[in-house]
Amino acid sequence: MKDKRIYISQLQDHIGETVTICGWLYNIRSKGKILFLQLRDGSGRVQGVVVKGQCTEECFASCESLKMEASINVTGMVREDRRAPSGVELTVTDIKVVQNPEEDYPISKKEHGIDFLLEHRHLWLRSSRPEAILKIRSNAVSILRRFFNERGFILIDTPILTGSIGESASTLFSVDYFDLGKAYLAQTGQLYLEAACMAFGRVYNFGPTFRAEKSKTRRHLTEFWMLESEVAFLDNEGNMKLQEEMVSYLVEGILASNEKELELLGRDTEPLKKVKPPFPRITYSEAVKLLEKLGKPIQWGDDLGGDEETVLTEQFEKPIFIVNYPKEAKAFYMKENPEDTRTVLCADLLAPEGYGEIIGGSQREDDYHKLLSRIREEKLPEEAYAWYLDLRKFGSVPHSGFGLGLERTITWITGNRHIREAIPFPRTISRLYP
Ligand code: 4AD
Ligand code: MG
Repeated sequence: MKDKRIYISQLQDHIGETVTICGWLYNIRSKGKILFLQLRDGSGRVQGVVVKGQCTEECFASCESLKMEASINVTGMVREDRRAPSGVELTVTDIKVVQNPEEDYPISKKEHGIDFLLEHRHLWLRSSRPEAILKIRSNAVSILRRFFNERGFILIDTPILTGSIGESASTLFSVDYFDLGKAYLAQTGQLYLEAACMAFGRVYNFGPTFRAEKSKTRRHLTEFWMLESEVAFLDNEGNMKLQEEMVSYLVEGILASNEKELELLGRDTEPLKKVKPPFPRITYSEAVKLLEKLGKPIQWGDDLGGDEETVLTEQFEKPIFIVNYPKEAKAFYMKENPEDTRTVLCADLLAPEGYGEIIGGSQREDDYHKLLSRIREEKLPEEAYAWYLDLRKFGSVPHSGFGLGLERTITWITGNRHIREAIPFPRTISRLYP
């Protein structure tokens, strides 16, 4: 009989059969006449047992010679083993070595510093923690897409090379663009989504965004993925309702299908189970008073920094919205608050347990003249925004949207301290390798 090639995740359905696993050796132990091979293939991990005398001499010798991270095809009989994490074990009968490394694998069981691990990210991806985090990330992306698809939103892929500044001129990456001068790498797809929402009503995008962040913090990357949504005829409150529904849907989905990964990461899931609508809303001005009481005073008008966000979120069990920031702390496109014109109709969503901002959103300025004067106040190049202003000339409506930072959200859900592990190959001010 020709052996069946299956994935480790399918072993449970093949108890008593002889199958072949194609994967890598991540550890090997020997106990006299028995070798224990720890195998992984991306879908899971399993132990293969090689007993001298129960396989050919050649097979045993090959197994004995294996080095860490050797790539192999292992054939064996699947046995139930309740003590094993995978519930099964493989009694090895044959092995084909695809490639046996000539050098020692650089990553070992001993503690490595974070710089060493980041320098070896291309190999570190094979370890169990990165595997768990990135599987959660993959699932989060499909849950978020499902959330919008189920509700009839239209996916609009916005450009990465752009001619207008979306957020702040101080964090732009630019590239030479033929005879047209400079193009900027998108900081956000928002302005284009606003155009699309006037055509399609409810839209979203999900793509890479770029910020030349000169700060080295545990919350900043220079390249990160953002999920953005924009809805016509929606105000700031409706925008927050959509966000709390989405975040709760996401957390619930991860809790339901990534139990194994969360456990491996040692994530306490109790705080995540509390993530259910409604989320508290506090105004920026209330936050300033609260910060004063908590011994972290800031001046009215200043933006909240990471430290302030941490202190604030520790006061609540759920994510919180901070609404109506001062105009000067936020981007030009936010709608002025008619009840207090020093502020804008916006909301940042801060994740609990000290994590801080994961979403920035607002109602958009829909008045042509007010928007034009904000563009002038900010000294933005008016010609580049002509198309954006057109949206306020032809059927302008109240509309709102937001952007969720994927890596910050994954950092929170996985209970990590630093954002760099939430993306396969992190880009920061000091890292472009590997
Ligand atoms: O708050 P931001 O700057 O908002 C916008 O870009 C809006 N145009 C979005 C919109 O309304 N459509 O960024 C949104 C989110 C932040 O809340 C944060 O989670 C994430 O993007 N983010 C970053 N994540 C990692 N590294 C950085 N340097 C980030 N900057 C923002
Ligand atoms: Mg923000």
